[in-house]
Amino acid sequence: MRRLLPLPAEDVDPYDAARPAGDGPLLRINFVVSADGLAADEDGRSGGLGGPGDHDLFRALRAHADGILVGAGTARTEGYGPHRLRADLAARRAADGRDRPAAIVLVTRSLALDLTSEVFTAAVTPTVVVTCAATPAAARAAAARAGVLVVAGEDQVDLPLAVRLLREDHGLAHLLCEGGPRLVQSVLGAGLADELCLTVAPLVLGAEGPRFVGRLPGRVPLDLASVHDQGGELFLRYRIPAARG
Ligand SMILES: NC(=O)c1ccc[n+]([C@@H]2O[C@H](COP(=O)([O-])OP(=O)(O)OC[C@H]3O[C@@H](n4cnc5c(N)ncnc54)[C@H](OP(=O)(O)O)[C@@H]3O)[C@@H](O)[C@H]2O)c1
Repeated sequence: MRRLLPLPAEDVDPYDAARPAGDGPLLRINFVVSADGLAADEDGRSGGLGGPGDHDLFRALRAHADGILVGAGTARTEGYGPHRLRADLAARRAADGRDRPAAIVLVTRSLALDLTSEVFTAAVTPTVVVTCAATPAAARAAAARAGVLVVAGEDQVDLPLAVRLLREDHGLAHLLCEGGPRLVQSVLGAGLADELCLTVAPLVLGAEGPRFVGRLPGRVPLDLASVHDQGGELFLRYRIPAARG
């Protein structure tokens, strides 16, 4: 991976490129789009948009995180499993003081989750389910048996409260939000994101489909922090100065 900004460098290690600026709480969004802004390929999945560089960065961003926040829609479409670390990344993560994989954190209003899937049954670090109090008590109890339950909000998931509970009660200070578009919309709309890591794939899809984000309460100004590339993929890292998280 090559760094173009702030200082050009060849052969940059993705784990180093993904290293946060400080040790404090952080909420990062990681997202890949085609050059025309689409969030999924013709098969309705995001994996086909990113190449080897994006996959390396995806793994490196995960290796720095305490929790991986994902919308239930994406977990269902993409068949999410637990966080599994490659040996080299596990060693680097351990050297940075994180001895277990990150927790997958599923955000859902409906609790329509497959509790027998590997994201629950094969997780070394228990998977967290974030939902609201309006869900049926029996479904909440089942989710609590399968993983860790966080109830935030009454009729809707209160994301600012959820992020606070994940940090204060569950030790998940550094959260990586992997989408999808509806969750990103809520996270950005609530001013919770400190950083946006956006991969632009060298591809115009020219199709209909989910886009990066829909309507927000207002503009979100971004500060460009770094630019890397590999094989034509552009990795843009922005700080979000207006974050209120
Ligand atoms: N390009 C990328 O980087 C990327 C990343 C991720 C996903 N994707 C693509 O995006 C598509 C999926 O889009 P999507 O918008 O359906 O994904 P999503 O945001 O992951 O899922 C939407 C669902 O997640 C839950 N959810 C999201 N935000 C919530 C909130 N604020 N409060 C409560 N629940 C919330 C709800 O689940 P319930 O229905 O269970 O209530 C909602 O129906 C797929 O094609 C996927 O491949 C692309």
